[in-house]
Amino acid sequence: MDRRQLGATGLLVPAVGLGTYRVFQAGNDADRARCEAVVDAACSDHSGVALFDSSPMYGNAESVLAESLVDRRDRAFVATKVWARNRAMGEQQIERALGFFERVDIYQIHNLLGKDDHLPYLRHLKGGGRVRAIGATHYLPSAIGDLLELMRHREVDTVQVPYHPLERSVEAELLPEAERLGIGVIVMTPLGSGRLVERTPSPAELAPLAEFGVYTWSQVLLKWILSDPRVHAVIPATRSADHMRENMAAGNPPWFTGDERMYVRRLVSRLL
Ligand SMILES: NC(=O)c1ccc[n+]([C@@H]2O[C@H](COP(=O)([O-])OP(=O)(O)OC[C@H]3O[C@@H](n4cnc5c(N)ncnc54)[C@H](OP(=O)(O)O)[C@@H]3O)[C@@H](O)[C@H]2O)c1
Repeated sequence: MDRRQLGATGLLVPAVGLGTYRVFQAGNDADRARCEAVVDAACSDHSGVALFDSSPMYGNAESVLAESLVDRRDRAFVATKVWARNRAMGEQQIERALGFFERVDIYQIHNLLGKDDHLPYLRHLKGGGRVRAIGATHYLPSAIGDLLELMRHREVDTVQVPYHPLERSVEAELLPEAERLGIGVIVMTPLGSGRLVERTPSPAELAPLAEFGVYTWSQVLLKWILSDPRVHAVIPATRSADHMRENMAAGNPPWFTGDERMYVRRLVSRLL
């Protein structure tokens, strides 16, 4: 799979990773086995490491992910988050996650909550090497201004934002500024939290895109995002090892040109 340099961080990430929101809460052995199978699929691409995104907001997803990564932590690029209203709670969360993962590749401030409390501690950890990059996330277009401020003040190395054919707010200012500043961009909710894959175009409508190595609607949507070179990775969530493999196959060139991207947008609007 394609690997992309995450802005100016010097870190390489696979173009398609795994989001763990809602899908990695495991209450029993069957759930844990299912999650491990998805991690197995994510790690099956032997050209490098697999990318995982988690958060303490996602129930026990961080610990379930860490258990699935036992003996293969070196083959994983772990992005997780601090989601706490104050510094003390944040430090506790961060230390717990570092206990799970040994080190965290990107430590993100979830929805910018308590950012001024958490940034100094994250900078301290980055200085010591337990954190490799600092990021911030937000799911609302109304937070783009706050993300831009952090980016311009060089407080973050990466941002995680929504981007898909029906949510293109980042195109106006955030993506150009990320490119200019060398900020890594990870795309959350690439399938519209599942909404975009509830209905799919016909096989005949998808056929013209087969020459780009994408055969399913999910693959087409992921390739649509990754064909914007200012994006470094997408992190679709899935409970299914088969879907994980299917999604990873969208992370290879050739990329869509403007024509195919326009065609996909028309397909999306017809499904509404
Ligand atoms: N504020 C934040 O920081 C924030 C907010 C939102 C999300 N995120 C991150 O972004 C990640 C992704 O967002 P999301 O989980 O909301 O939604 P998403 O990735 O856009 O969509 C997930 C849904 O798509 C389905 N899906 C995945 N691959 C598929 C395939 N190949 N074929 C058919 N269906 C497929 C999944 O169902 P199956 O299980 O059946 O595959 C699941 O229902 C999250 O997990 C999280 O890591 C961060």
